[in-house]
Amino acid sequence: MADRTALPSELARRLFQIRSVGAITGAGVSAESGIQTYRGKGGIYDDPQHGDKTVEALSGHTLLADPDRTWRAVGSLARQAIDARPNVAHVALAAIERSVDHFVLLTQNVDGLHQLAGSRNVIDIHGSIHEAVCTSCGALKRFDRDELAGILSTPQCARCSGPMRPNAVLFGELLPVDKVQRIHEEFYEFRPDLVILAGTSALFPYITQPVEIARQAGNLTVEINPEPTLMTPQVEFSLRGKAGEYLDLIRRAITPD
Ligand code: OAD
Repeated sequence: MADRTALPSELARRLFQIRSVGAITGAGVSAESGIQTYRGKGGIYDDPQHGDKTVEALSGHTLLADPDRTWRAVGSLARQAIDARPNVAHVALAAIERSVDHFVLLTQNVDGLHQLAGSRNVIDIHGSIHEAVCTSCGALKRFDRDELAGILSTPQCARCSGPMRPNAVLFGELLPVDKVQRIHEEFYEFRPDLVILAGTSALFPYITQPVEIARQAGNLTVEINPEPTLMTPQVEFSLRGKAGEYLDLIRRAITPD
């Protein structure tokens, strides 16, 4: 039986040549840190009692109608993730960034674990659960973990007392235009040698298109996921396993000791 934790030899050989990397991540990359995914077994949407309620509470329309409810849901998610620390997958991506000529990380995660692990050039397309922005004056506030976990109602702006909202894209809301522009620059105009898709069900066009662009350009595309996804037939190499395991192997292949 093949060793599940080894890279295909053809992939290892090609990784040795790589000088620029674009990584695209989702909730599965934080699963090994104990953070719940959205879909699949044990995911937020899979919870028959609370799943729909969580999604509704974290939506743009609830924020308008009942902002305290949205903030209570944010506090509840923060309490579940209060002890979460970066795992091997986050650390491997930060190490890859330090060793190649150009690196970009497009993440759908709002947990801040990539940044905590040391990733620098990050497009956090869905924002950050650790930040709030004032809906009146635009002031930004950063929460520490304990503060966020204790939130039970809408925080007020320290500058103008206006109501604050999470600095994250809620369900049903539009993506920030400046971050969409950065995706274009980093994946459509620059075109990294290698595009990695890790720990995401890859359902959104702004996640799948950079992979398709790389494939069309003849660049290397790799998926890491324990389950097949809609992108599995689109990538050159689909590695069936955990992000921590395979990203660490990719790190070692790109930067041999
Ligand atoms: P999902 O929950 O949709 O998908 C998580 C993926 O990670 C699944 O394909 C799992 O098979 C895979 N997975 C689980 N454990 C893994 C592991 N240890 N290593 C690697 N992969 C693993 O999460 P996302 O794709 O991130 O949007 O979801 C995308 C967006 O949908 C979220 O950002 C959220 C949600 O609506 C907003 O909050 C706006």
